[in-house]
Amino acid sequence: MQDLKAKYLSAIANAADESALEDVRLAALGKKGEISALMATLGKMEADQRKVTGAALNLLKDEIDAALRAKKAALGDAALDERLRSEWLDVTLPARPRRMGTIHPVSQVMEELTAIFADMGFAVAEGPQVESDWYNFDALNIPPEHPARQEHDTFFMHRAPDDTRPPHVLRTHTSPVQIRAMTEQGAPIRVIAPGRVYRMDMDQTHTPMFHQVEGLAIDRNISMANLKWCLEEFCRAFFEVPSVELRFRASHFPFTEPSAEVDIRCSWEGGQLKIGQGDKWMEILGSGMVHPKVLTAAGVDPTQWQGFAFGMGIDRIAMLKYGIPDLRAFFESDLRWLRHYGFAALDMPDLAGGLSG
Ligand code: DAH
Repeated sequence: MQDLKAKYLSAIANAADESALEDVRLAALGKKGEISALMATLGKMEADQRKVTGAALNLLKDEIDAALRAKKAALGDAALDERLRSEWLDVTLPARPRRMGTIHPVSQVMEELTAIFADMGFAVAEGPQVESDWYNFDALNIPPEHPARQEHDTFFMHRAPDDTRPPHVLRTHTSPVQIRAMTEQGAPIRVIAPGRVYRMDMDQTHTPMFHQVEGLAIDRNISMANLKWCLEEFCRAFFEVPSVELRFRASHFPFTEPSAEVDIRCSWEGGQLKIGQGDKWMEILGSGMVHPKVLTAAGVDPTQWQGFAFGMGIDRIAMLKYGIPDLRAFFESDLRWLRHYGFAALDMPDLAGGLSG
């Protein structure tokens, strides 16, 4: 038994890999192995001898088994070490730049304005693009016969011929999100709602789908002065100029009272548009103090709360900021246009790091 032990322990020690080790295991402990064969002879022995030999054989078997396991673990570690040595990779090496497509100017501008308004405490609210007639119109103080309904060139969804309810619409503006946000959150509230809107219109300056951002701030003492400051602050940050001049023109919207349209001072020099200087004015948004009926429709008490709202065309301000002449090209998915006007992926705009890189 001493010989067997010495023989197998040295064979185990010398096994170069897992398959050599398995051969040793089979030779010793396998069904037809040497030690198994000895075990089989126990039955023919005298009781006394069987007891002594059996115990010794079991001990030998255990020792060999333990040596096999230890060697197997060591071989596994060695194999792993070898893999780690041969497959190493320096993760600190600089990455090779790879083209991943570009960020569309509309997405870029949405990120920029979200960063600016977030800095002023506005959260982002959302609503559906297929909107009910009530949210898109009635709740915003545009009842069924109101002329503003005609001006919106609305796309209507299909209804079964025997269904008399007003059809849903593709939302014609982001203003319904005001109602949804107030209904869900109540007052005070400060949100912006960027998103797609739809109108049946198509020429050089209109596409059937375009983008707006709605703004809403409701609290106890909010006034037109707060609206003016917010918009000036926004324009200065967005257009990345030290100062801007805005002009508030009295206007009319059913959902605000008083209402104002806002123009920004700019110049056209040699076909180049400049914001913040010059003798031209460019309309960029509609705004006003939220109408008490609108607050009421959204479950907010107009004797306790008041505030401003605005709606701005995102495509328009993207064209202004980045000097993009044709609106329709925005939605043609022309890769050459996207490469030219697009923004680097992963370059998220933030106020501290610079909005547009
Ligand atoms: N919803 C208006 C439109 O699409 C824009 C607008 C004007 C939004 C005045 C407002 C507002 O919130 O106060 O033409």
